Order: sequence, then structure tokens, then C-alpha cells
Amino acid sequence: MATADQLRALIESHGEGDDDRFYSVALQVAAQAARSGHGRIARELRDLVDQHKVNRGTPGGRPVPLAQPRGELAGLLTVTYPKVRLDSMALDEATRGRLYRVVREQVARGQLREHGFAPQRRLLLVGPPGTGKTMTASALAGELALPLFTVLFDGLISKFLGETAAKLRMVFEAVTQVRGVYLFDEFDALGGERSAANDVGEIRRVLNAFLQFLEQDHSDSVIVAATNHPDLLDRALFRRFDVLIPYALPDGVVAERIMRARLSSLDAHAVDWSSARRAAAGLSHAEITRACEDAAKQAILDGSASVSGEALVTALDQSRAARGG
Ligand SMILES: Nc1ncnc2c1ncn2[C@@H]1O[C@H](COP(=O)(O)OP(=O)(O)OP(=O)(O)O)[C@@H](O)[C@H]1O
Ligand SMILES: [Mg+2]
Repeated sequence: MATADQLRALIESHGEGDDDRFYSVALQVAAQAARSGHGRIARELRDLVDQHKVNRGTPGGRPVPLAQPRGELAGLLTVTYPKVRLDSMALDEATRGRLYRVVREQVARGQLREHGFAPQRRLLLVGPPGTGKTMTASALAGELALPLFTVLFDGLISKFLGETAAKLRMVFEAVTQVRGVYLFDEFDALGGERSAANDVGEIRRVLNAFLQFLEQDHSDSVIVAATNHPDLLDRALFRRFDVLIPYALPDGVVAERIMRARLSSLDAHAVDWSSARRAAAGLSHAEITRACEDAAKQAILDGSASVSGEALVTALDQSRAARGG
């Protein structure tokens, strides 16, 4: 049976996400079992290892965890492996259609390329705060079983703008080398600083560098830029993207879908949905989600498994008051 050293190695390799070491220790345990006459257990262990190694390699299976970005890149990108899918988002039909189209083109990208077509892969998401732009990048990564790399503008934008262009180059090298969803969140940080007290000429050059990298990149990665300041961005910039997806505050139907989904673990039969929809008008997806969470937690703290309509409307009103609207 497994020795203490082997158990230690199994736990360590699991913790470090080192699958190869994990399976090799498991096979050592199997070999030892076989030597001490436990043939059946040895076979079972080997079969288990084979089975899981195969699952690991199949498309749609868990993505193989990549090493964290290292060295200078570590200050420029963070990586996550989102599990969230598009169907857990409340989307209007047009947006849903556009996003599933991107997923379908990505899945069929080999076929499209064989016929000389490029799949959609450069997305610009534009809309007010809290409407699901960042969540969309996660959900696309989840759908495609790709890692999500988020570009850290704090690291990218240097006082010395010549350095910024060099760092952008490093980010785009990663885009080419490791397929993933690359999120330039709050993208206006890069595109919109011309009005600031910086050297205008230098900022222009950084933006042009970005556009050039974007244009030259023919990798299989998906690039998502998100902003809530469309007016700060350049026309030249819009042209460089394959798809522009507008985000807006939810209408009544979408608002109700968000609320029903967020309250689904509790009993919400007492909620009058038409008053709730009225109270939610003008609030963002994020604000409605937060209000539902407040009302649900209040119900749980009060020892009840059911959410009252009034509590929900109060939470929605408070959310509106909090932003002074
Ligand atoms: N379409 C949606 N469906 C369900 N929940 C949503 C949706 N959009 C937003 N949410 C909820 O609101 C939270 C915040 O949304 P998100 O961060 O994606 O907004 P954003 O558009 O990126 O905002 P910002 O412009 O401020 O960055 C999400 O984590 C999620 O809980
Ligand atoms: Mg965001």
C-alpha cells in the first residue's frame, strides 16, 4: 500500500496542479501493490489513471492548467479558468445570438480556415457599468474551455510610454503563444488618455502600437476589449475589431430573468414579479443581482426559506438610492 512519502507526493502534486507527477506517483503505488500480491488493486489503479489521463486530453474536458505567467509577464497578465457559461447569463436575444455566433466560429475555426475564412476573434464590448461585459469574457472562456488572461493596465501603462509599447508587445507575444481569451478590461485606460496631462504624441504612439499588434495578430486566441466610454475611443480603433457588441441596461424581461435565477435557491412564490420589474427599471444587471442577494440573505437570516416581494422591492429601491438615481 501507499507509503507516507507517496501520500505526501500525491498531496503536493495535486496542490501544485502537477498532473504528470500525480499520475506517476499513482502508478508507483500500483506497481508496489502488484509486487506485494494485490493484483486486483494494482489493475484498478492503473485503469483509473488511464481513464483520467484520457479525459484530461479530450476537448470539452478540463483545460490543462497552464503555468502562471512568469517574470515580467506576471505583472501584466493574470490567469483564471472560469467555469461560468453563457447560459447562466441573462441576455437579450440579439446579444445572445452574437455571442453564440462567436463560440460557433471558434469551435469551427479549422473548417473556416480551410476555406480561407477567419473566425470572429476580436470583440469590442461597449456599454454602461454592471451590464455583464467582464462576465461575458469569463463565459466565453468557460464555453471554449480556454484560460482567461486579464491584462493588468496598472502594470502595462508606464510613466515611460516607450516602455508601455514594449510591454504591449510582450502581451501580444503571449496571445500568439498560448491560446486563450485575452481581456483588455476598461480598455479606455489605453485608448482614452489623450485628454490627460500626458505627452499626447507618446500616447498616440502607444495606441497605434496596440492597433498594429491587433491587426498583425492572426493567432487562435480570442481578444476581448471592454469599455463603458465609447466616446473616448477612436473610429480607427472600432474598425480593427471583428465584432462590436453593445451592452445596455436590462429591460423588464431580462430583469425578471436575472431575479428569478438569483433567487432560485429559495422559495420566491410570494414575489409579485410585475412590481419587482418596476422597481428594477433603470438598474444594471449587477445592481439587480446585488439587490436579490441582499433580499435572499435577509430572508435566510430571518430564518425563512422564502423571499417576500416587499423585501425585494425595498432592496431594489435601496440599490437605486445608493447610486443617487
Ligand atoms: N447578463 C447578466 N446576467 C446575469 N448576471 C449578470 C449579467 N451582467 C452582470 N451580471 C452580474 O453583475 C456582476 C457584474 O457584472 P460585470 O462585472 O460583468 O459588469 P461590467 O459590464 O463588466 O461592468 P463595468 O463596466 O463596471 O466593468 C456579474 O458578476 C454578475 O453577477
Ligand atoms: Mg467590467
